[in-house]
Amino acid sequence: MQEKPNPVALRMLKQRSDILENLKGIKFKIAVMSGKGGTGKTTVAVNLAAVLSRKNSVGLLDADIDCPNINSFLGIKERFSVKGENRIQPIERFGLKVVSMASLQEEADTAIMWRGPMISTGLNSFLQNTDWGKLDFLVIDMPPGTSDAALSIMQNVDLAGIVVVSTPQGVALTDASKAINMAKKFNVKVLGLVENMSGEIFGEGEVESLAKKLGETFLGGIELRKEIRQLAEKGLIAVNESREAEKEFKAIAQIVLKQLGVQKNG
Ligand SMILES: Nc1ncnc2c1ncn2[C@@H]1O[C@H](COP(=O)(O)OP(=O)(O)OP(=O)(O)O)[C@@H](O)[C@H]1O
Ligand SMILES: [Mg+2]
Repeated sequence: MQEKPNPVALRMLKQRSDILENLKGIKFKIAVMSGKGGTGKTTVAVNLAAVLSRKNSVGLLDADIDCPNINSFLGIKERFSVKGENRIQPIERFGLKVVSMASLQEEADTAIMWRGPMISTGLNSFLQNTDWGKLDFLVIDMPPGTSDAALSIMQNVDLAGIVVVSTPQGVALTDASKAINMAKKFNVKVLGLVENMSGEIFGEGEVESLAKKLGETFLGGIELRKEIRQLAEKGLIAVNESREAEKEFKAIAQIVLKQLGVQKNG
Protein backbone atom coordinates (compact mmCIF):
# COMPACT_ATOMS: atom_id res chain seq x y z
CA MET A 1 0.00 0.00 0.00
CA GLN A 2 1.26 3.47 -0.87
CA GLU A 3 2.00 5.68 2.15
CA LYS A 4 -0.04 8.86 2.46
CA PRO A 5 2.16 11.96 2.06
CA ASN A 6 2.66 13.86 5.31
CA PRO A 7 0.68 17.11 4.88
CA VAL A 8 3.01 19.13 7.13
CA ALA A 9 6.09 18.03 5.20
CA LEU A 10 4.33 18.79 1.93
CA ARG A 11 3.39 22.26 3.13
CA MET A 12 6.97 22.95 4.20
CA LEU A 13 8.33 21.81 0.86
CA LYS A 14 5.83 23.97 -0.99
CA GLN A 15 6.77 26.96 1.18
CA ARG A 16 10.46 26.41 0.50
CA SER A 17 9.93 26.22 -3.22
CA ASP A 18 7.76 29.37 -3.13
CA ILE A 19 10.51 31.20 -1.24
CA LEU A 20 13.23 30.06 -3.64
CA GLU A 21 11.05 31.15 -6.55
CA ASN A 22 10.40 34.55 -4.95
CA LEU A 23 14.10 35.17 -4.30
CA LYS A 24 15.41 33.91 -7.61
CA GLY A 25 16.02 37.42 -8.98
CA ILE A 26 18.64 37.99 -6.25
CA LYS A 27 22.18 36.89 -7.05
CA PHE A 28 23.75 36.66 -3.61
CA LYS A 29 21.95 36.25 -0.29
CA ILE A 30 24.17 36.87 2.70
CA ALA A 31 23.07 36.36 6.32
CA VAL A 32 24.81 38.28 9.10
CA MET A 33 24.84 36.12 12.23
CA SER A 34 26.27 35.62 15.67
CA GLY A 35 25.24 33.37 18.47
CA LYS A 36 25.34 36.14 21.06
CA GLY A 37 23.14 39.22 21.20
CA GLY A 38 24.46 42.75 20.85
CA THR A 39 27.68 41.91 19.01
CA GLY A 40 26.93 44.31 16.16
CA LYS A 41 25.05 42.21 13.58
CA THR A 42 22.70 45.03 12.65
CA THR A 43 25.61 47.49 12.50
CA VAL A 44 27.54 45.18 10.19
CA ALA A 45 24.48 44.31 8.06
CA VAL A 46 23.57 47.97 7.50
CA ASN A 47 27.11 49.16 6.77
CA LEU A 48 28.03 46.19 4.59
CA ALA A 49 24.82 46.69 2.60
CA ALA A 50 25.59 50.41 2.24
CA VAL A 51 29.12 49.78 0.94
CA LEU A 52 27.90 47.15 -1.51
CA SER A 53 25.10 49.43 -2.71
CA ARG A 54 27.59 51.94 -4.10
CA LYS A 55 28.12 49.73 -7.13
CA ASN A 56 25.33 47.16 -6.84
CA SER A 57 21.61 46.88 -6.20
CA VAL A 58 21.13 45.79 -2.61
CA GLY A 59 18.24 44.75 -0.38
CA LEU A 60 18.30 44.59 3.41
CA LEU A 61 16.01 42.18 5.25
CA ASP A 62 15.52 42.49 8.98
CA ALA A 63 15.02 38.89 10.08
CA ASP A 64 14.59 39.94 13.70
CA ILE A 65 10.85 39.59 13.98
CA ASP A 66 10.57 40.22 17.73
CA CYS A 67 12.95 43.16 18.02
CA PRO A 68 13.45 44.61 14.58
CA ASN A 69 16.13 47.31 14.67
CA ILE A 70 16.92 48.03 11.04
CA ASN A 71 14.32 50.78 10.66
CA SER A 72 15.60 52.74 13.62
CA PHE A 73 19.21 52.36 12.38
CA LEU A 74 18.09 53.88 9.07
CA GLY A 75 15.63 56.43 10.40
CA ILE A 76 12.72 54.73 8.61
CA LYS A 77 9.27 55.59 9.92
CA GLU A 78 7.15 54.65 6.91
CA ARG A 79 4.85 51.65 6.70
CA PHE A 80 4.86 49.20 3.82
CA SER A 81 2.58 49.47 0.91
CA VAL A 82 1.15 46.25 -0.43
CA LYS A 83 0.43 45.86 -4.11
CA GLY A 84 -1.68 43.35 -6.02
CA GLU A 85 -1.71 39.87 -4.55
CA ASN A 86 -0.27 40.83 -1.15
CA ARG A 87 3.13 41.80 -2.54
CA ILE A 88 5.13 43.77 0.02
CA GLN A 89 6.96 46.73 -1.50
CA PRO A 90 10.31 47.33 0.26
CA ILE A 91 10.98 50.82 1.58
CA GLU A 92 13.76 52.62 -0.28
CA ARG A 93 16.29 54.36 1.92
CA PHE A 94 19.86 55.49 1.20
CA GLY A 95 19.69 53.50 -2.04
CA LEU A 96 18.76 50.28 -0.23
CA LYS A 97 15.53 48.29 -0.45
CA VAL A 98 14.56 47.63 3.14
CA VAL A 99 12.08 45.20 4.71
CA SER A 100 11.56 45.02 8.45
CA MET A 101 8.77 43.86 10.72
CA ALA A 102 8.96 47.36 12.20
CA SER A 103 7.23 48.59 9.05
CA LEU A 104 4.12 46.65 10.09
CA GLN A 105 3.97 47.91 13.62
CA GLU A 106 1.46 50.71 13.19
CA GLU A 107 -2.12 50.70 12.28
CA ALA A 108 -2.01 51.64 8.64
CA ASP A 109 -4.66 49.68 6.73
CA THR A 110 -2.17 47.41 5.05
CA ALA A 111 -0.52 46.65 8.37
CA ILE A 112 -3.81 45.60 9.93
CA MET A 113 -4.60 43.41 6.96
CA TRP A 114 -1.24 41.73 7.21
CA ARG A 115 -0.80 41.58 10.92
CA GLY A 116 -2.27 38.17 11.71
CA PRO A 117 -0.79 36.15 8.84
CA MET A 118 2.52 37.98 9.14
CA ILE A 119 2.94 37.14 12.78
CA SER A 120 1.86 33.53 12.42
CA THR A 121 4.17 32.73 9.57
CA GLY A 122 6.57 35.56 10.41
CA LEU A 123 9.77 35.53 8.50
CA ASN A 124 8.61 33.06 5.88
CA SER A 125 5.92 35.51 4.86
CA PHE A 126 8.53 38.17 4.18
CA LEU A 127 10.59 35.68 2.23
CA GLN A 128 7.60 34.59 0.17
CA ASN A 129 5.83 37.87 -0.36
CA THR A 130 8.38 40.64 -0.77
CA ASP A 131 8.69 42.20 -4.17
CA TRP A 132 12.49 42.63 -4.29
CA GLY A 133 12.75 42.69 -8.05
CA LYS A 134 16.22 42.01 -9.40
CA LEU A 135 19.05 42.53 -6.92
CA ASP A 136 22.74 41.80 -6.79
CA PHE A 137 22.75 41.29 -3.02
CA LEU A 138 20.30 40.66 -0.21
CA VAL A 139 21.85 41.22 3.21
CA ILE A 140 19.87 39.52 5.98
CA ASP A 141 20.23 40.86 9.50
CA MET A 142 19.65 37.92 11.84
CA PRO A 143 18.49 37.99 15.43
CA PRO A 144 20.88 36.46 17.97
CA GLY A 145 20.90 32.70 18.41
CA THR A 146 20.78 29.60 16.32
CA SER A 147 17.10 28.69 16.51
CA ASP A 148 13.88 30.00 14.93
CA ALA A 149 14.93 32.67 12.44
CA ALA A 150 18.33 31.13 11.79
CA LEU A 151 16.72 27.76 11.09
CA SER A 152 14.11 29.25 8.84
CA ILE A 153 16.69 31.20 6.81
CA MET A 154 19.12 28.29 6.52
CA GLN A 155 16.39 25.85 5.53
CA ASN A 156 14.54 28.02 3.07
CA VAL A 157 16.99 30.45 1.52
CA ASP A 158 19.75 29.51 -0.93
CA LEU A 159 22.35 31.50 0.97
CA ALA A 160 25.62 32.43 -0.71
CA GLY A 161 27.04 32.39 2.80
CA ILE A 162 27.06 33.87 6.28
CA VAL A 163 29.10 36.62 7.83
CA VAL A 164 29.72 35.94 11.51
CA VAL A 165 30.08 38.92 13.83
CA SER A 166 31.76 38.53 17.17
CA THR A 167 33.19 40.80 19.80
CA PRO A 168 36.56 39.72 21.17
CA GLN A 169 35.29 38.36 24.52
CA GLY A 170 35.22 34.66 25.41
CA VAL A 171 31.44 34.17 25.52
CA ALA A 172 30.93 35.88 22.19
CA LEU A 173 33.63 33.70 20.65
CA THR A 174 31.98 30.52 21.89
CA ASP A 175 28.63 31.65 20.51
CA ALA A 176 30.21 32.60 17.17
CA SER A 177 31.53 29.05 16.93
CA LYS A 178 27.97 27.78 17.43
CA ALA A 179 26.73 29.87 14.50
CA ILE A 180 29.57 28.50 12.37
CA ASN A 181 28.74 24.91 13.35
CA MET A 182 25.13 25.49 12.45
CA ALA A 183 26.08 26.81 9.00
CA LYS A 184 28.23 23.76 8.45
CA LYS A 185 25.36 21.44 9.33
CA PHE A 186 23.28 23.13 6.66
CA ASN A 187 26.13 23.17 4.15
CA VAL A 188 26.13 26.96 4.12
CA LYS A 189 29.44 28.65 3.34
CA VAL A 190 31.02 30.73 6.08
CA LEU A 191 32.21 33.81 4.20
CA GLY A 192 34.18 34.87 7.23
CA LEU A 193 34.33 36.42 10.68
CA VAL A 194 34.23 40.07 11.66
CA GLU A 195 35.65 41.35 14.93
CA ASN A 196 33.45 44.16 16.18
CA MET A 197 34.11 46.52 19.09
CA SER A 198 37.86 45.91 19.00
CA GLY A 199 39.96 47.99 21.34
CA GLU A 200 41.02 48.48 24.90
CA ILE A 201 37.71 47.57 26.50
CA PHE A 202 36.86 44.21 24.91
CA GLY A 203 40.28 43.35 23.50
CA GLU A 204 41.59 42.83 20.01
CA GLY A 205 42.72 40.00 17.79
CA GLU A 206 40.71 37.21 19.40
CA VAL A 207 38.30 36.82 16.49
CA GLU A 208 41.16 36.59 14.01
CA SER A 209 42.71 33.88 16.18
CA LEU A 210 39.38 32.03 16.29
CA ALA A 211 39.07 32.27 12.50
CA LYS A 212 42.55 30.80 12.15
CA LYS A 213 41.80 28.02 14.59
CA LEU A 214 38.62 27.09 12.72
CA GLY A 215 40.22 27.40 9.29
CA GLU A 216 37.83 30.23 8.38
CA THR A 217 38.49 33.62 6.80
CA PHE A 218 38.99 36.72 8.93
CA LEU A 219 37.15 39.58 7.24
CA GLY A 220 38.45 42.44 9.36
CA GLY A 221 37.82 44.44 12.47
CA ILE A 222 35.75 47.43 13.52
CA GLU A 223 36.92 49.46 16.46
CA LEU A 224 34.67 50.31 19.38
CA ARG A 225 34.02 54.00 18.71
CA LYS A 226 31.35 56.28 20.09
CA GLU A 227 30.49 57.70 16.66
CA ILE A 228 29.33 54.30 15.38
CA ARG A 229 26.60 54.15 18.01
CA GLN A 230 25.80 57.85 17.79
CA LEU A 231 25.34 57.78 14.02
CA ALA A 232 23.10 54.71 14.26
CA GLU A 233 20.99 56.48 16.86
CA LYS A 234 20.52 59.39 14.45
CA GLY A 235 19.38 57.01 11.72
CA LEU A 236 22.58 57.55 9.73
CA ILE A 237 24.92 54.99 8.22
CA ALA A 238 28.45 55.12 9.60
CA VAL A 239 30.19 54.41 6.28
CA ASN A 240 28.50 57.44 4.74
CA GLU A 241 29.55 59.76 7.56
CA SER A 242 32.89 58.58 8.87
CA ARG A 243 36.11 58.00 6.93
CA GLU A 244 37.32 55.49 9.50
CA ALA A 245 34.14 53.42 9.36
CA GLU A 246 34.18 53.58 5.57
CA LYS A 247 37.72 52.24 5.51
CA GLU A 248 36.91 49.39 7.89
CA PHE A 249 33.75 48.29 6.09
CA LYS A 250 35.20 48.67 2.59
CA ALA A 251 37.99 46.30 3.57
CA ILE A 252 35.45 43.80 4.91
CA ALA A 253 33.27 44.09 1.80
CA GLN A 254 36.25 43.48 -0.48
CA ILE A 255 37.00 40.17 1.19
CA VAL A 256 33.32 39.18 1.18
CA LEU A 257 33.22 39.86 -2.57
CA LYS A 258 36.37 37.85 -3.08
CA GLN A 259 34.85 34.99 -1.10
CA LEU A 260 31.83 35.14 -3.40
CA GLY A 261 34.01 35.12 -6.47
CA VAL A 262 33.00 38.68 -7.38
CA GLN A 263 36.10 40.74 -8.02
CA LYS A 264 35.08 44.15 -9.30
CA ASN A 265 31.85 45.25 -7.66
CA GLY A 266 33.07 46.65 -4.34
N1 LIG B 1 32.01 49.24 16.74
C1 LIG B 1 31.09 49.83 17.49
N2 LIG B 1 31.38 50.93 18.23
C2 LIG B 1 30.44 51.53 19.02
N3 LIG B 1 29.18 51.12 19.13
C3 LIG B 1 28.83 50.02 18.42
C4 LIG B 1 29.74 49.33 17.56
N4 LIG B 1 29.07 48.28 16.99
C5 LIG B 1 27.82 48.34 17.45
N5 LIG B 1 27.66 49.37 18.31
C6 LIG B 1 26.45 49.74 19.05
O1 LIG B 1 26.17 48.65 19.93
C7 LIG B 1 24.76 48.40 20.00
C8 LIG B 1 24.49 46.97 19.55
O2 LIG B 1 24.82 46.85 18.18
P1 LIG B 1 23.85 46.11 17.16
O3 LIG B 1 22.44 46.51 17.41
O4 LIG B 1 24.41 46.29 15.81
O5 LIG B 1 24.07 44.61 17.67
P2 LIG B 1 23.22 43.31 17.29
O6 LIG B 1 24.17 42.17 17.30
O7 LIG B 1 22.48 43.56 16.04
O8 LIG B 1 22.21 43.22 18.51
P3 LIG B 1 20.97 42.21 18.64
O9 LIG B 1 21.56 40.87 19.01
O10 LIG B 1 20.14 42.80 19.70
O11 LIG B 1 20.29 42.16 17.29
C9 LIG B 1 24.11 49.46 19.13
O12 LIG B 1 23.77 50.54 19.93
C10 LIG B 1 25.22 49.86 18.16
O13 LIG B 1 25.08 51.18 17.66
MG1 LIG C 1 20.40 43.32 15.64
